[in-house]
Amino acid sequence: MLTSRLIGHRGVASLAPENTLAGIRLAAEMGVKWVEVDVTLLGDDTPILIHDADLARCSNAEGLVIDLSRRDLKNIDAGSWFSKEYAGEPLPLLSDALTLISHLGLGLNLEIKTHSIDPDKIAHIVQSCLRSNPFPADKLLISSFEHETLQAWYQTEKKTALGYLVEALPDDWQQRLDMIRARSLNFDWQQVSAREFMMVKESGFELYSYTCNDPEQGELLWQQGVDGVITDYPQRFPIS
Ligand code: G3P
Ligand code: MG
Repeated sequence: MLTSRLIGHRGVASLAPENTLAGIRLAAEMGVKWVEVDVTLLGDDTPILIHDADLARCSNAEGLVIDLSRRDLKNIDAGSWFSKEYAGEPLPLLSDALTLISHLGLGLNLEIKTHSIDPDKIAHIVQSCLRSNPFPADKLLISSFEHETLQAWYQTEKKTALGYLVEALPDDWQQRLDMIRARSLNFDWQQVSAREFMMVKESGFELYSYTCNDPEQGELLWQQGVDGVITDYPQRFPIS
């Protein structure tokens, strides 16, 4: 199995502002071994960590992420919306996040949020950032809901472990996973049945389920063969 049984969602989204360096540091302090974070591009092609295409929910700013350039980041506070304790937390550059995560010895499930960006473009920019900020290949899973983005990745980089993200299981799941030699199916545990995900596992793919915040449900998923549970609340689970 590539990742660990427990993966901190957006860092530790229940205890620190999501997709921040503070959240990643907290995950490491708690003993979480892998984190999931979201990456997208600014208008000047700088990759940064943020979930939404819009700034409003997770920062003191408004407007579209794609309308920003790197020099705008100094005015953005991505922590105060969560709590005063995190005031002034920056919107992290992917390069800084890679350096920190690597330094902390964590594994990384990096989810590419393509939004309206060209899939080839975002895949290649993230690849370029990883070349400039090397990250251990055995601790990296690149995931995306956008199959085209994963295809673009696979066309130029065959060695990276890829996770195809779905909500419900598409009928052509096997074809989609095979096309990119996916390592895993990352699925919404509320939308994919045990019968369905066991079928995927029997075809040789790892399984990661999001976003499970109930430890009893997580235990059941593990027992049913899910390799890793992605959670906002790692503090509720046995951390190993
Ligand atoms: O990668 C798992 C999960 O993060 C996918 O959904 O919307 O939380 O990025 P979302
Ligand atoms: Mg995500």
